Amino acid sequence: MNYFKRSVFALSLLAAGTVFAGEPVSISIDTSKPGPVINKDIYGQFAEHLGSGIYGGLWVGPNSKIPNTKGWRNDVVGALKAMHVPLVRWPGGCFADEYHWKDGIGARDKRPVKVNTNWGGVEESNAVGTHEFFDLVEMLGADAYVNGNLGTGSAQEMSEWIEYMTSDSKSTLANLRRKNGRDKPFKVAYFAIGNEAWGCGGNMTPEHYADLYRNVETFLRAPAPYRPKMIASGGNDNDTSWSDVLSKQLKRQTDGISFHYYTIPTGKWEVKGAATGFAEQEWISTLANTLRMDEHMKRNSAAMDQHDPDKKLGLFVDEWGTWYDVEKGTNAGFLFQQNTLRDALVAALNFNIFHAHADRVRMTNIAQMVNVLQAMIITDKDKMLLTPTYHAFEMYAPFQNATVLPLALNNNRQYALGGASIPEISATAARASDGKVYLALVNTNPREPADVAITVPGQSVKAVRGRVLTAGAMDAHNTFAAPQAVKPAPFSATAVDGKVSVQIPAKAVVVVAVE
Ligand code: AHR
Repeated sequence: MNYFKRSVFALSLLAAGTVFAGEPVSISIDTSKPGPVINKDIYGQFAEHLGSGIYGGLWVGPNSKIPNTKGWRNDVVGALKAMHVPLVRWPGGCFADEYHWKDGIGARDKRPVKVNTNWGGVEESNAVGTHEFFDLVEMLGADAYVNGNLGTGSAQEMSEWIEYMTSDSKSTLANLRRKNGRDKPFKVAYFAIGNEAWGCGGNMTPEHYADLYRNVETFLRAPAPYRPKMIASGGNDNDTSWSDVLSKQLKRQTDGISFHYYTIPTGKWEVKGAATGFAEQEWISTLANTLRMDEHMKRNSAAMDQHDPDKKLGLFVDEWGTWYDVEKGTNAGFLFQQNTLRDALVAALNFNIFHAHADRVRMTNIAQMVNVLQAMIITDKDKMLLTPTYHAFEMYAPFQNATVLPLALNNNRQYALGGASIPEISATAARASDGKVYLALVNTNPREPADVAITVPGQSVKAVRGRVLTAGAMDAHNTFAAPQAVKPAPFSATAVDGKVSVQIPAKAVVVVAVE
């Protein structure tokens, strides 16, 4: 039992000297067999013209009393910067397939006002357009993912948008961009042709979409240094036919195929389940449903492997996250929901899954960045708070561009309730760009802590040091009255004989550097 002795165990939330009951979970990290790089864009965000996702939550306009830079809120941008946002997808979603980019350039007071037919039927002022979006991503130090309009748009409209954004020539469109204040081309990292073509993007079959995609992509001629990675809009949920058909028919014309999967507690769109005040049965069903992402990644990768065995195409999960019943008293078209500790675990479980598929999954976007669905930040007029999901993202920041390290996880228990059963511990390890090995652990059990013994064969581990995110209640969340109710706390333990033993609290996310 030497294995379980610990010299120092400094965890602010637990008393030191805890005695393990039974065999601990053992994690052995293999540093000799590095895997693929975890593309930083796996930590991408999504900001759609939807509810207060942009207007109010991020954009207040340059004349607002709320402190801003070029119209973007300083408080929100500052917090997102601190979270290391690598990529932002814009302008939708369903909104993208009705968005006409020329409505969003030039003098803001002259831009046409439209109706946001997808989201609440509210007026869309077009105050945020191409230049404003690039102001935002450049302030964040992030890359841009622009989603083109295949629904009500055309090959010509998308081709002109690409030219407007990326041409360094003296063409009329490039000069129009200059007249509107931007001399050098914008950097468009990704460009998607349509969104959810199987649904709000046009109710198509994959075969019909593949033909349209081929046609449009032919005319999106960006100069080589500015050419975005092209994205074909793929399938969702259990449907792998889009990954199959598109990887077969488009493999020479696209860089990746998108996929959408939302975590719904009940698994039913009609009554999804509440964001707060839920029973433990909905805790486990939410986590069980989110873990299905792994099966989706496996099945879609397998479909793509048939036509693209060298994995040249990426599987881009450009919408994922929790989707609950909207908060009572809010506009149902605005998709506003509270964000709790449960959401932080959902985020962390998905990160661990994406890392495990990093050879194929090279970009994802959580839906959505501010005030919509599983948000990082919630605002109310001039106030702002960070959600538990925000903390999961910033805790996992060292994994951006890190190299996956395989790990062996043994003695893992199942956490079970009613008919559901899921593994108690989920883990991922990687060597980051700072040279350190990082380990992330999730304890899905909301009642029991889990004892974990960590080793790195061939290396004498000295300690693990990092942070833990947990709270007393499954639905613990931050409010404007108590904005720090859920936030990370220090977590560390020192090793005995080159091995380190830790206790992961119930319902917790832990990220540590293994020293
Ligand atoms: O993220 C909200 C919506 O969900 C997006 O607009 C759409 O693509 C998806 O159905």
